Amino acid sequence: MFYTKELQALDKKQLLRVRKIFPSSYLDFASNDYLGLSYNKKQFSKAYKLLRKENLNAPRASVLVNGYSKLHKKLESELSKINNFQSCILVGSGFLANIALFESLVRKNDILFIDEEYHASGILATKLLKNVIIFKHNDYKDLESKIKQSHIQSRILIAIEGIYSMSGDIAKKEFINIAIKYDAILIVDEAHSSGTLGKNLLGYFDYYDIKIRDNFIKLGTLSKAYGSYGAYILSSKHITKYLQTRAKPIIYSTALSSFDTALALVNVKYIQKNKNSLTKKIKTLKKLIVENLKIKLDSQVFSIKFQNQNKMLQKAKSLKKNKILVGAIRKPTVQYPVLRIILSTKHRKKDILNLCDLLKK
Ligand SMILES: Cc1ncc(COP(=O)(O)O)c(C=O)c1O
Repeated sequence: MFYTKELQALDKKQLLRVRKIFPSSYLDFASNDYLGLSYNKKQFSKAYKLLRKENLNAPRASVLVNGYSKLHKKLESELSKINNFQSCILVGSGFLANIALFESLVRKNDILFIDEEYHASGILATKLLKNVIIFKHNDYKDLESKIKQSHIQSRILIAIEGIYSMSGDIAKKEFINIAIKYDAILIVDEAHSSGTLGKNLLGYFDYYDIKIRDNFIKLGTLSKAYGSYGAYILSSKHITKYLQTRAKPIIYSTALSSFDTALALVNVKYIQKNKNSLTKKIKTLKKLIVENLKIKLDSQVFSIKFQNQNKMLQKAKSLKKNKILVGAIRKPTVQYPVLRIILSTKHRKKDILNLCDLLKK
């Protein structure tokens, strides 16, 4: 049989991954459903109605053939407008969007500087490149010293996340200053910050109140706070033009599913309309955690580090016995095993208190 040895080795290290369906009665602190939209049936009905008005159920082809639809265009316009970017292009997923960006934008003499904790899809994409330098996590001083030490022949690209998916820390503002100082292209993966951060819930640039420039690129996903599936890349018109001509995951992959596009569109509008009440709810949730666990909390994500993987897995198991789901994250995704907890506006006060009590035990 194929891969028996590899499977045995992974099993021995307790690194086998499994797919499981959990009862819906479990309290979910594991998924990326930041605003509880994955359960919102009103939004589902709105999206269904919107799609009923169109002729098509499915995109049928790549956006470069005839898969591009009015709904795709509407969602792209809405996302560019609210984020103040010149242009937007939808991509099948965040994973594909990272591959699209790095593989197409980093040309022969360019150098990509990337945070060591950048998402696995970006790190995988760097394997396609020769000119990549990794800097310490969220350490703009390390980035700048690495830029200074490098022999720059052409463009500099810098890749960070708005909110890091494992630790929940927010990227420092100084990365923007460095991008401006060195005329670098700054790519911000906002998978976890779009819809959760900033006074308009738009993410990193919104949080620091930064005027959008031509050298900024925002990658957002539609699958987390936005309660749908897919991703988008916001940039200058020039960069979008280049991506649609050169980025293989955009050219050679079917356009974003029609229903997901409709659902994302109604959800983007919902978040903008309800941003004040949602922000208030997020604040309340975070306050409860800070008061009860006495920890520093930047975002709706936080991790509890363990030196020992077994202990972390035992803790996750005991939470599961109490019908609470959290992320049990192991190597190689993280350096140390962690329990990752994600707060959602669907959580009630008593859910959070219940979680805190069990975590403290
Ligand atoms: C930071 C980050 N970027 C990209 C992705 C990939 O996005 P998607 O799930 O849409 O492929 C994820 C998803 O987990 C993520 O956390």
